[in-house]
Amino acid sequence: MVPFSLWAVLPTFAIQTVTASSSSSITKDACSLLSQLLPEEVAIPGSETYAHSNNYWSALQAELEAECFVLPRSTEDVSIVIKTLTCTNVPFTVKGGGHSAFAGASNTNGGVTVDLSRLNDITVSDDEKTVSIGPGNRWINVSEALDRQGLAVVGGRVASVGVSGLTLGGGISYFSGRYGWACDNVRNYEVVLASGKIVNASPKENEDLYWALRGGGGSNVGVVTRFDLAAFAQGDLWSNTVVFPGAMNQTIIPTFVDIAQNRLQEDADAHTYFIISYQPTFGGPITVASFYHASLPDEGKVPPVFESFQKFPNPLVNSTVVANVSTLSRAIDEPYGLRQTWSDTTVKVKSPELFQKIALLFDAHLEVLLEAAGNTTLLPFLVYQPISVNIIEAMQKNGGNALGLHPEDGPLMIIQLTTKWTDPQLDQLIEDESERFIAKVEKLAKEYDATKGYVYMNYAGQSQDVLRSYGDANFARLKKIANKWDPKGQLQRDWKGYFQLSETT
Ligand SMILES: Cc1cc2nc3c(=O)[nH]c(=O)nc-3n(C[C@H](O)[C@H](O)[C@H](O)COP(=O)(O)OP(=O)(O)OC[C@H]3O[C@@H](n4cnc5c(N)ncnc54)[C@H](O)[C@@H]3O)c2cc1C
Ligand SMILES: *[C@@H]1O[C@H](CO)[C@@H](O)[C@H](O)[C@H]1NC(C)=O
Ligand SMILES: *[C@@H]1O[C@H](CO)[C@@H](O)[C@H](O)[C@H]1NC(C)=O
Ligand SMILES: *[C@@H]1O[C@H](CO)[C@@H](O)[C@H](O)[C@H]1NC(C)=O
Ligand SMILES: *[C@@H]1O[C@H](CO)[C@@H](O)[C@H](O)[C@H]1NC(C)=O
Ligand SMILES: *[C@@H]1O[C@H](CO)[C@@H](O)[C@H](O)[C@H]1NC(C)=O
Repeated sequence: MVPFSLWAVLPTFAIQTVTASSSSSITKDACSLLSQLLPEEVAIPGSETYAHSNNYWSALQAELEAECFVLPRSTEDVSIVIKTLTCTNVPFTVKGGGHSAFAGASNTNGGVTVDLSRLNDITVSDDEKTVSIGPGNRWINVSEALDRQGLAVVGGRVASVGVSGLTLGGGISYFSGRYGWACDNVRNYEVVLASGKIVNASPKENEDLYWALRGGGGSNVGVVTRFDLAAFAQGDLWSNTVVFPGAMNQTIIPTFVDIAQNRLQEDADAHTYFIISYQPTFGGPITVASFYHASLPDEGKVPPVFESFQKFPNPLVNSTVVANVSTLSRAIDEPYGLRQTWSDTTVKVKSPELFQKIALLFDAHLEVLLEAAGNTTLLPFLVYQPISVNIIEAMQKNGGNALGLHPEDGPLMIIQLTTKWTDPQLDQLIEDESERFIAKVEKLAKEYDATKGYVYMNYAGQSQDVLRSYGDANFARLKKIANKWDPKGQLQRDWKGYFQLSETT
């Protein structure tokens, strides 16, 4: 019934907890001040609400201990919270869906975490062209509401991922070939600024802020309290996932790269990604390709754009499913509780050989990690995600986004490295090896004259220079906009943990 899911076959693990936290009295004071201003909206350690808020996808985030969680119920509450935190100079962060990987991305040790989960409205406009979504929603909540009405938005592919973080960093969707990324399909953002002031940002109002929010993240300009997304009619999608033995990677890569380089551009309904992974449940390395098509091919047929892939014989798994967005996104949901790290870079799609060579780099990386992990759980993934020219073209609408991608650069490929593990003793090694791997990929890309170097925020490692990778001009423009909307630099100072303009030199 459901498509093959890598995640569904993986065991879930208990979340490891450590006692940490350097609680300062000023943060404690802020928590008690907030609980006077907003009774019932502040949760302290030991409470049920606190435990509920402290549920994060990555164990590295769940291990931190915020002094308190604040759970605003309205935009006005968010305004009170942000004004209080910036006035008292208290370190804080914001949690949308809590799916970022590294420690401190949306939780804090000893600071205040603003949990937006109670801002969970979903409202479809009468003309069915706009869906207004509260920032505490997950994509499953959105798709369940929209599937029912035969509608969709350009949103996340995986059920429990948050609407907020995904949309603020970019947002790769099943529907990107036609519409661009999630951030390119926001009609309006409602934003609470550092001062507590509430403003809107759209192509017609506060255009500079609108541009900065399209891929620049939230932590430099404000907390988004409502996303108005463009909706369109959508029925079931076609999907196919094939799994081959890992040893076939060198054979398969050129065909996948050919689709990314030459075919996707011709078919706006097509979407695909490619994975090499080590999966003990399959007895070792595997090569996986996932294909999606937003309109249905004739019964039993494969959309022509993906036909070249059918020549590979004897897949270990070959699963075709026609289903709604909710069903497809649930099928690839990922369990909570593992330690996680992500990192990525982007290269130009010119030569299939580059991608074969990157896979060989991954082989060497894999060897080091598996050796170190011994018999503890370690699940590494190398993922290729195309950014076809039609996606980049759609990114240019309404003044463009902050990412610095130009149609003449394309097609591009995101090279994404993600690792899941259980043993805390491996933390440093995995971070270091991941950094080294990305550096090697970038060096190799240079040799193939395929350098782009754009780092996709939503897959980035903590030490990656994401905002600089948007290009000098965009970086300078982001700084100027951040200074305008937060003239005292309070968010740069107090909002901790995510990619901030002030952290880059
Ligand atoms: C299983 C899985 C599947 C994924 N699938 C996709 C995919 O299909 N496409 C894709 O593009 N990406 C995907 N991602 C990456 C995803 O986009 C990022 O992890 C994203 O940050 C998740 O958003 P979140 O709200 O859950 O994260 P959070 O960790 O809650 O937030 C991320 C960052 O955004 C900030 N933030 C959160 N809410 C707000 C707000 N309202 N205003 C201002 N700042 C805010 C936080 O402070 C934090 O810095 C996936 C990730 C996972 C783990
Ligand atoms: C969002 O969806 C999840 C999973 O179906 C559900 O548990 C949760 O209650 C939903 N949230 C809201 C606000 O409906
Ligand atoms: C989505 O598809 C599933 C499986 O066919 C079905 O059970 C569910 O009702 C559908 N959701 C909506 C909202 O139509
Ligand atoms: C990739 O293919 C090469 C050549 O067949 C093989 O040596 C290597 O082990 C494969 N990598 C993985 C992860 O399976
Ligand atoms: C997967 O199965 C379908 C039929 O269900 C077939 O058309 C297709 O060729 C198969 N794919 C591969 C890679 O074997
Ligand atoms: C892992 O290996 C160690 C020795 O190398 C052994 O003591 C331990 O029992 C093993 N654990 C599991 C879960 O197999």
